[in-house]
Amino acid sequence: MSRIVHAVYFSPTHSSKRMALLLAQGLARKLQAGVLPHDWTLPAGRQEPVSLGAGDVLVFGFPVYGGRVPELCLPCLQTLEGAGRPAIVLAVYGNRHYDDALLEAGDLLAAQGFTVVAAGAVIAEHCIAPAVATGRPDARDLELLDGFAARAAEAVAQGRDALPRLPGAHPYKRLSPSAPAKPATLASCTRCGTCAGLCPLGIIDSVDPSLVGEGCLRCCACVKFCPQGAKTFQDERQEAIRSWLEASCQKRREPEFFL
Ligand SMILES: Cc1cc2nc3c(=O)[nH]c(=O)nc-3n(C[C@H](O)[C@H](O)[C@H](O)COP(=O)(O)O)c2cc1C
Ligand code: SF4
Ligand code: SF4
Repeated sequence: MSRIVHAVYFSPTHSSKRMALLLAQGLARKLQAGVLPHDWTLPAGRQEPVSLGAGDVLVFGFPVYGGRVPELCLPCLQTLEGAGRPAIVLAVYGNRHYDDALLEAGDLLAAQGFTVVAAGAVIAEHCIAPAVATGRPDARDLELLDGFAARAAEAVAQGRDALPRLPGAHPYKRLSPSAPAKPATLASCTRCGTCAGLCPLGIIDSVDPSLVGEGCLRCCACVKFCPQGAKTFQDERQEAIRSWLEASCQKRREPEFFL
């Protein structure tokens, strides 16, 4: 039976998707395996079961939110059956820090019966403050990710044991209660529907995209991909976070890999 590398990801602004797929492709090349993507970003994708065969490998890529794994991923992770299969964790973050996200993801996968053989924390443009980590991942980041894929493939091929520990602390960083949020829609909106189709929660009305329901994640997919630049966060909290990130998180951080 041929081996499959399953690339599972949640990725509203597509950085985690890009890096999880590159990692999965690098692994698959070395292991002479195929790649199967599982996109958990949209509600329909989160309904699709992930069925793993004997000898298959899991890559889990996600954006760090508040130093943690996005809560939306937890119910999906709980449907996975590890049965001792190897897993590789990839946390993608916006140059502030990943805090306890790697540890949490490793714990969650171990609880599902996976053997977490490798983990990485890599940097991408901050979706809330695009002036932070602008242009990341760059060529150097991608070269390092490729090297990590090769070393992770070796770990899989050698049937290595689970990593003894990942950085982070128990109890995990407390999630600060998020104030209700909603992006505003400017008059330049053409009602093209792009944002409605890309919202991970499906809370943007497809007929009148200025109508946004409750529970917004502030993921910024609607802001980033609106062709008119018509979706925007104008609330004080978002502005304060953006200013703080721009002032405090400009020093370049480097990818970290654990094997
Ligand atoms: C609600 C929220 C919380 C975030 N928290 C962090 C964080 O704790 N540390 C960090 O460095 N970046 C943080 N980010 C930035 C994202 O991790 C980063 O932009 C990531 O590349 C987004 O991934 P995506 O392109 O797959 O959506 C946060 C972004 C959002 C929307
Ligand atoms: S993507 Fe932009 S222009 Fe299109 S419906 Fe949404 S807000 Fe309007
Ligand atoms: S409405 Fe909120 S959750 Fe939906 S795409 Fe926009 S920022 Fe993300």
